[in-house]
Amino acid sequence: MHQDFLPPGIAVLTGAGVSKESGIDTFRDAGGLWTRVNLEEVATIEAWYRDKKKVLDFYNDTRRMFRATHIAPNAAHAALARLEQEYDGEVTIITQNIDLLHEQAGSRRVIHMHGRDGEVRCMHCQKVFESDDDLTPASVCPNCISVGELRPNIVWFGEMPMHLEEIYQVLERCGLFLSIGTSGEVYPAAGFVLHVRRHAARARTVELNLEATDNKTLFHEHIYGPATEIVPAYVARVLARGWRD
Ligand code: APR
Repeated sequence: MHQDFLPPGIAVLTGAGVSKESGIDTFRDAGGLWTRVNLEEVATIEAWYRDKKKVLDFYNDTRRMFRATHIAPNAAHAALARLEQEYDGEVTIITQNIDLLHEQAGSRRVIHMHGRDGEVRCMHCQKVFESDDDLTPASVCPNCISVGELRPNIVWFGEMPMHLEEIYQVLERCGLFLSIGTSGEVYPAAGFVLHVRRHAARARTVELNLEATDNKTLFHEHIYGPATEIVPAYVARVLARGWRD
């Protein structure tokens, strides 16, 4: 079918809240990761140059946590995979999460704007590799043989998020923008709803979150509750009768 005849796309921004009920902590809620760990010691380029072992150990532990047997996609991930399979138009997940739970649930169009688990990058030659091995300051780049230059392929504070050009194209052609499980405190993701309002003026914007965020007023509709309850119900509603009131 020619693209002109497809229904408008659905752009879904997800954050840590969508994976919370899978057993992965959020960042800013009470008890969240950044309330327990000083992000400046593990999630900045300065931290990496200051103490590579500390930064690499933190991400080695994170990767092991993601691979623990009790971590699995939940009903919200499954509902978004169902939406992609059953909706006639394009459904794109833009996730801030580095876990792979959307893919494990069956979603295929997933953009990891903050990088993803299972990839490392060489700071010397910039080549990206699939790897599940622990990194140490003695790790050797398989491409350029530099020592101690491999890091997780994850966007740290102060670094540019990935795939932004593609993301803005998806936002500008969407008819529905969903923001799920994100506090809206970290840019540029926090600004996506405003970008949709300005550049896809007819699009509907919906916030699905445990509680209201500071971006609340930019959404046409708000649905509050645990993602495993509200996302499957909303997806069922969209598939049954669309997103207009
Ligand atoms: N269901 C739905 N929403 C939830 C749930 C749940 N079960 N539990 C928590 N939430 C909501 C919280 O209310 C909060 O608004 O998820 C949001 C999580 O916010 P943050 O912890 O700030 O996570 P996120 O928005 O993904 O952070 C963005 O910050 O540190 C960086 O790179 C990191 O990608 C991350 C980015």
